[in-house]
Amino acid sequence: MARDYTARCLAVSPMGSCWLVAGMILLAAQGIMAQKVRVEEELEAYPTESIDLRCQFIDGGGRTKLTQVSWIWEPIDGQRDNIAVFHPIYGQSFPNLSFKDRVVFLHNSLENPSIRISNLKMADAGRYTCEYATYPSGNEQGTTTLVMLAKPKNSAKVLTVRAGSKSVVVAQCEAADGKPAATITWLASVEGNHSTSMTNGPDGTVTVRSEYRLDPTPADNGREVTCKVNQRTQDRPWMYPVTLSVEYPPSVSIEGYDDNWYIGRSDAVLTCLANANPPPTTVTWTMASGSLPDTVMVDGNKLMVRKVDNAVNATFICEVKNKHGASRQQVTAIVIVGPCVSADAVKISDAVKISILLLQSEERARFQDVGVPHMVWPAMSPDLNPIEHIWDQ
Ligand SMILES: *[C@@H]1O[C@H](CO)[C@@H](O)[C@H](O)[C@H]1NC(C)=O
Ligand SMILES: *[C@@H]1O[C@H](CO)[C@@H](O)[C@H](O)[C@H]1NC(C)=O
Ligand SMILES: *[C@@H]1O[C@H](CO)[C@@H](O)[C@H](O)[C@H]1NC(C)=O
Repeated sequence: MARDYTARCLAVSPMGSCWLVAGMILLAAQGIMAQKVRVEEELEAYPTESIDLRCQFIDGGGRTKLTQVSWIWEPIDGQRDNIAVFHPIYGQSFPNLSFKDRVVFLHNSLENPSIRISNLKMADAGRYTCEYATYPSGNEQGTTTLVMLAKPKNSAKVLTVRAGSKSVVVAQCEAADGKPAATITWLASVEGNHSTSMTNGPDGTVTVRSEYRLDPTPADNGREVTCKVNQRTQDRPWMYPVTLSVEYPPSVSIEGYDDNWYIGRSDAVLTCLANANPPPTTVTWTMASGSLPDTVMVDGNKLMVRKVDNAVNATFICEVKNKHGASRQQVTAIVIVGPCVSADAVKISDAVKISILLLQSEERARFQDVGVPHMVWPAMSPDLNPIEHIWDQ
């Protein structure tokens, strides 16, 4: 706990009270009161920034003689090398060429050999040790870890897929060149899976990629999944919703047939409805028995019968295509001789007549079997009014 606080506090605070308090906590927590070289435990920085590495020699008794101080850099995987040396007589030296023009001593002082490194690179990450050569106790040192950070470049995209029964990648999300590595999670209302992979960059950065997988169904088209990227350099998670794009062949239904295509009717219409992604390229009406009769007009997905006659006593087929396939649906129209009247719509007096009529006529009762329930069939032939006819008898 104390160590965590120390690291964070030091990382964000300039020289001041935090530095002192943190130093005391550090000393108390670690029980190393003998520590004479005081440095910060950990610092964070971004490329191109400058950073101050502070170092101070604490000599309780004042009896220690300091001869020379060096800063030694130890890359994450590599050799230790002196990058800055201070000698009270011989002066300053910057032996490592890759730091030579980027390092300065902030004070020309053996007791305070703090340095500033400018124009930081990702590769500067590592341990920086402030090491004193002293008499009589020998070498004394303190080490600061420099953590180089990089904000990831985040992106997400959707992949258009075809509905099917196997799991496919429907969305991708990437947090590129971040340090430390980002974590990617997904927020989704659809049942899916994700898998994440990491690629190390040459400069210690990490690219994290995540793929969201799903067994896509037509219903998943248009649903949202959100990629969420968390990373230390971001104040808050990066959230990016993508809208799923699932394509599928048409599914077709026919609406409008009402079991009441009586001879002479003029407003019979069938509508072909299709659910398809991408939208249908063609909608075709045909008749099972051959070409459409002249009394039929097609307008887009609608088939209109100008006048019902025996020619439309037939099976109508609607076929819909998109790039993923074709589907068809059919409806069989049965042409009846006279209109089918809803029982509710019939006046009471007519209803009485009709029920008598139906009771009297076995033939009519059989005919009614082919109709739909709740319908009565008052007429057999358009030429004569059977109700009047029977009443007359
Ligand atoms: C600087 O020090 C590092 C770490 O030991 C070493 O790899 C590198 O070669 C040195 N660079 C030069 C120019 O001396
Ligand atoms: C998710 O992953 C598990 C394990 O790999 C697998 O068994 C499951 O079928 C996957 N579910 C989906 C929707 O892909
Ligand atoms: C329509 O066709 C059916 C057989 O599919 C037949 O039973 C019916 O009598 C026909 N209707 C007319 C008015 O011809």
